[in-house]
Amino acid sequence: MPHSSSGPSHSSDASRFDIERYLKERAALVQNALDRTVVEHRGPGAKLLEAMRYSLLAGGKRLRPVLALAACEAVGGKPQDALGFACALEMIHTYSLIHDDLPCMDDDDLRRGRPTNHKVYGEAMATLAGDALLTDAFKVLARSPASRAGAPVLLEVIAELAEAAGSAGMVIGQALDMLSEGQPTDLATLEYLHARKTGALFLVSVRGGGLLGGADRTQLDALTVYGRALGLAFQVIDDLLDVVSSTEQLGKRAHKDDAHGKATYPALMGVDKSRQFAVQLKEQAIAALSGFDGRAEPLRQIASFVVERSL
Ligand code: IPE
Ligand code: IPE
Ligand code: MG
Ligand code: MG
Ligand code: MG
Repeated sequence: MPHSSSGPSHSSDASRFDIERYLKERAALVQNALDRTVVEHRGPGAKLLEAMRYSLLAGGKRLRPVLALAACEAVGGKPQDALGFACALEMIHTYSLIHDDLPCMDDDDLRRGRPTNHKVYGEAMATLAGDALLTDAFKVLARSPASRAGAPVLLEVIAELAEAAGSAGMVIGQALDMLSEGQPTDLATLEYLHARKTGALFLVSVRGGGLLGGADRTQLDALTVYGRALGLAFQVIDDLLDVVSSTEQLGKRAHKDDAHGKATYPALMGVDKSRQFAVQLKEQAIAALSGFDGRAEPLRQIASFVVERSL
């Protein structure tokens, strides 16, 4: 059956669901919203906005915002209910990439297929572009039209996003990533690190999307299991791709983790076991959605995409 032009099919028949088309359509929705949200500036501070937009609109898979929209839809919400939140997620993610690439962190010169922000705008402007994206993300979310779920739910989403991005989430994960360079790391510590530096933003993407779509307690618990497993799987595969993929394929430098002595899954358990672990996590994620109907098909397919992707 052909898909209607108004949106992707919600068929419960997984084989008929066109995930590539879904990802493309939802990513385009996010791209347009971001373009309208972080606008060019003609005044004296034009360079800052230019630097923000350079990294934000450069492409990228848009997985976190698309997950938010998909979680919202899985519980019966409309993409529009979570669009402001989706923009905020991508702004925070982009800030984290700009800072992650700085010479004082991973010192990378290529991101999303183009020179890193600091290579183009200098370290000061790159740092500030990241600061601004992070701060503005909360403005965008707080000012987003109250979703069907209402203001108290929006407040909860703001709190969960701050927690996921801050010293209990992504930032402590990044701190541990830096502190563990060249240090022996055990599996428990590695999982703790990955769950925070990357997993936390994935988890809040899914939970926040669900909350804004009106998820009930049972649905939210299931989305939490899904988001936690998926977030960890995502970083395991990111580690793996650094080993097995190429710079051209990834649009960022490959084979850098080992050179930097980073704590990664392939370094600890090898490539094959890491892949097996990611597949296990994917299965856990999909199993958590057993109580959902065909509207959760995008979430199921995204879990497979995350583990099978090549960039
Ligand atoms: C890269 O994230 C940084 C990590 C958390 C591993 P993505 O692989 O989602 O990067 P983009 O957004 O597609 O560029
Ligand atoms: C980055 O992890 C995680 C965050 C930006 C929070 P990596 O350092 O592994 O990401 P890449 O490989 O540079 O994209
Ligand atoms: Mg890093
Ligand atoms: Mg890095
Ligand atoms: Mg990496």
